[in-house]
Amino acid sequence: MNNVFVFDHPLIQHKLALIRDENTGSKEFRELVEELSLLMAYEVTRNLPLEEVEVKTPVGPAKVRMISGKKLGIVPILRAGLGMVNGMLKLIPAAKVGHIGLYRDPDTLQPVEYYCKLPSDVSERELIILDPMLATGGSAAKAVEVLKSKGATNIKLMCLIAAPEGIEAVHKEHPDVEIYTAAIDEKLNSHGYIVPGLGDAGDRLFGTK
Ligand code: PRP
Ligand code: URA
Repeated sequence: MNNVFVFDHPLIQHKLALIRDENTGSKEFRELVEELSLLMAYEVTRNLPLEEVEVKTPVGPAKVRMISGKKLGIVPILRAGLGMVNGMLKLIPAAKVGHIGLYRDPDTLQPVEYYCKLPSDVSERELIILDPMLATGGSAAKAVEVLKSKGATNIKLMCLIAAPEGIEAVHKEHPDVEIYTAAIDEKLNSHGYIVPGLGDAGDRLFGTK
């Protein structure tokens, strides 16, 4: 699949297995989602451009490489994307954080937007949308549409579990968006839930039902 990257690192797969387990409670679920996000941030930022600079060590000058002034932004989709923010910020603390509030109408499965607050300079930033679940793809496609309408041109999507239907839907509308995920599952069920998935990510993170 073009523009889809599945992380097969053992630590990522192990932690993903733990969050799928229905016996994993909210506290552990939250901790694991944060750890997964940190590990995935490491991979997602692999291609950031470097520039050569000079620093002075106690022994003398050294030519070293540092990230070259790339402006990053992370954009969690509320609610469940919030669980991925701290892990990302641990690795890229200078990233700005925007928020897009979307929920899926349970009958139509269409995304309903209820909140949007973004950094003013999104058009200059490399943006990473965060949402643990890519199911029908409606929410992610809508989030990309919102960011593009504000001038963003460089957008990635990072999720934990994707359904084939969601990947196809996002890429049909936004083929330029790279999708990073820890797993591509089998399918959606008749309620639009990912099978086997992990259930409702927001409810499992925040202990709601
Ligand atoms: C979940 C999830 C995604 C969306 C994925 O959110 O966090 O945002 O569903 O489904 P889709 O790909 O079919 O759009 P939900 O609508 O349950 O809202 P919540 O995070 O507030 O619980
Ligand atoms: N949203 C979730 O939280 N889980 C799914 O499986 C699908 C949508």
